[in-house]
Amino acid sequence: MTQVSKKVESHFDRKYREFDAFYREKKGFFSRMIDAVFRRSMQLRFEKVIAGAAPYKKRSVLDVGCGTGRYSVALALKGIKRALGIDFASNMIDAANDLARHLNVHHICQFMKADFMAIDFAETFDHVFAMGVLDYVEHPVPLVRKMVDLAERSVMISFPSKKGIVQRFRKQLFRKVKKCPVFFYSNEDVRQIAHQGGAKKFTIDILAKDYFLTIYSGKKDTEGTE
Ligand SMILES: C[S@@+](CC[C@H](N)C(=O)[O-])C[C@H]1O[C@@H](n2cnc3c(N)ncnc32)[C@H](O)[C@@H]1O
Repeated sequence: MTQVSKKVESHFDRKYREFDAFYREKKGFFSRMIDAVFRRSMQLRFEKVIAGAAPYKKRSVLDVGCGTGRYSVALALKGIKRALGIDFASNMIDAANDLARHLNVHHICQFMKADFMAIDFAETFDHVFAMGVLDYVEHPVPLVRKMVDLAERSVMISFPSKKGIVQRFRKQLFRKVKKCPVFFYSNEDVRQIAHQGGAKKFTIDILAKDYFLTIYSGKKDTEGTE
């Protein structure tokens, strides 16, 4: 593991509960205001992944940097066949397993503590996604290439935009206060990363403060037939 990965792992091992608070339903006024201003993209990308993985029946997903498993569990509840979530922060994986058991989808969701880049996969997946992960990745191209290789239908990835005062604040906060490396991207950066990662057909949408990259694998169609 690189020095950057070790710092990111340790950050999320410590902050897993704070991170997951975004998904919890009961929130006070202050938290809701913070979400509306700073975390709008988290909500939008969640909705886009859930919509992008439809139709769910017989589909499999790989959730790279799965955190507390919110995406995999939501997709399991929608009816997908299999979800594999990978995260190198153990507390994230423990929380993901607890959530899957609590919602009775633990037979569909498997969560594994590992560095995504270190795993040799013996299977491919219909959809492969990484949400809120590229913020913490020093070398994005090899990671995107690996995701492209593993996807039969689509790859979905969020990239935090370089633009805006909120992003500059976040950069200082993470680097100086939280001591966690964080990376930002321009639209052109995302385009270059997609090309270099082996994407032939892709779109980039702007979702609040994120770029949302969808790569169409072209191995199986993405419109719903099997
Ligand atoms: C901000 S959290 C996002 C969690 C989840 N995707 C979500 O949106 O709810 C980013 C997660 O990516 C994980 N991560 C970053 N790089 C990783 C890598 N190379 N392998 C496995 N996990 C990684 C971190 O440990 C962290 O839990």
